Amino acid sequence: MDKLVIRGGVPLNGTIRVGGAKNAALPCMAACLLTDGELLLDQVPDVRDLQTTRHLLEAMGVETDAGSGRARHRVRLQAREIPNPEAAYELVKTMRASTLVLGPLLARTGRARVSLPGGCAIGARPINLHLLGLEKLGARLRQEHGYIVAEADRLRGNHYVFDRITVTGTEDVLMAAVLAEGETVLENCALEPEVVDLIELLAKMGARIEGAGTPTLRVQGVARLHGASHRIIPDRIEAGTFILAGLITGGQLTVSGLNPLHLRALLDRLQEAGARLRIGGDLVETLPGPRLRGLDITTAEYPGFATDLQAQYMALMTQAEGAAILTETIFENRFMHALELVRMGADIKIEGNRAIVRGPAPLAGAAVQASDLRASASLVLAALAAEGETIIDRIYHIDRGYERIEERLRAVGGIVRRIGRLIPQRPAGATAAS
Ligand code: EPU
Repeated sequence: MDKLVIRGGVPLNGTIRVGGAKNAALPCMAACLLTDGELLLDQVPDVRDLQTTRHLLEAMGVETDAGSGRARHRVRLQAREIPNPEAAYELVKTMRASTLVLGPLLARTGRARVSLPGGCAIGARPINLHLLGLEKLGARLRQEHGYIVAEADRLRGNHYVFDRITVTGTEDVLMAAVLAEGETVLENCALEPEVVDLIELLAKMGARIEGAGTPTLRVQGVARLHGASHRIIPDRIEAGTFILAGLITGGQLTVSGLNPLHLRALLDRLQEAGARLRIGGDLVETLPGPRLRGLDITTAEYPGFATDLQAQYMALMTQAEGAAILTETIFENRFMHALELVRMGADIKIEGNRAIVRGPAPLAGAAVQASDLRASASLVLAALAAEGETIIDRIYHIDRGYERIEERLRAVGGIVRRIGRLIPQRPAGATAAS
């Protein structure tokens, strides 16, 4: 299992470019199931979750093809036929978002068999709201040996109000509604830029959707969709992570290729905390300055402070002056990184869904373990600020969502290397086992 070894205390300087958004590419790739035409997606990051998505689609009979070298972010997908409309447990358990195929499979083929995802490191994460929405459109669902088996003749438009805001839930039900007969009105939908990106792609494929970026989506179902080309939006979470990396190391780091409008909540909080940022066009530059002040945040659905940046912000707050209270409202168990940060010297107390971070606390390198994708990003940031060497284990989590993180951090001055599993040395004189 790979580990990252990071020697901290070096400011990151230079320019780092953000890739395409993993969480936009995921539903956009699933959208290929809605048509027999060809989808050409550009700026698809080369990360583990999207490789898993390709395997998932290929197992259903989809032709997929990604360029190599500099063209590796261009992915071609074509679901001429879907002989096997199934998402197997082996893939779903490694990536919960695999359940996104349920809506499009049902809409296109009238049947789907998708494994239930089970528990997750950051919370229970049920998909009940996806299922209720699909039932509203006429799907017949039953649970069988850990799988949801869904059937429908032709889905029919209806009115559905999400009981709470769900990102992939909105995407899943929306992808079913675009091929349903008649009008569907979805209320209390997620406003995340990734949902809007999916809507843009669906519109290019011939879907009729009004209300993108608002809580109410009105869909006029169509009988067929066709192929399209689409460029995935920049990854706002990756961008936010790099901005925080610039600040925590006191560097002058330009994060380019982002959309600052998607990062409003983070940038506002950082400036309030005293961060010196130059924001313009598609970039944000961190400027060295005085120590930041501890500042509270509460995670919320977009356009609020993203839960996917809470762990990384916590790392920054360990170095700010005074206390900061971080309140997590989206997932019930998203403070696993705090315990590892404490092992590096941070002063953090957890009370229910609140983390109280007192800074500045000198961080010292240690052996730590990543528990999920964003937790691992938080440990990377802490390691970049810590004195001495940090070894982060289980970094397959970070590979799920950040492309070649060590190379990109090295290019801006980070002392970061990846090591593989150490092969135990054979004692002298021992013979090889057969
Ligand atoms: N929820 C339900 N029932 C449902 C669906 C959701 O109760 O049927 C609850 C969840 O348990 C959670 C809340 O609603 O408490 C919001 O969850 P949501 O469905 O919005 O999360 P998601 O769609 O599973 C996406 C991102 C996550 C991100 C969340 C919140 C993708 C592929 N994943 O997950 O990204 O944290 O939205 O913004 O889009 C990540 O990239 O590291 C990541 C975890």
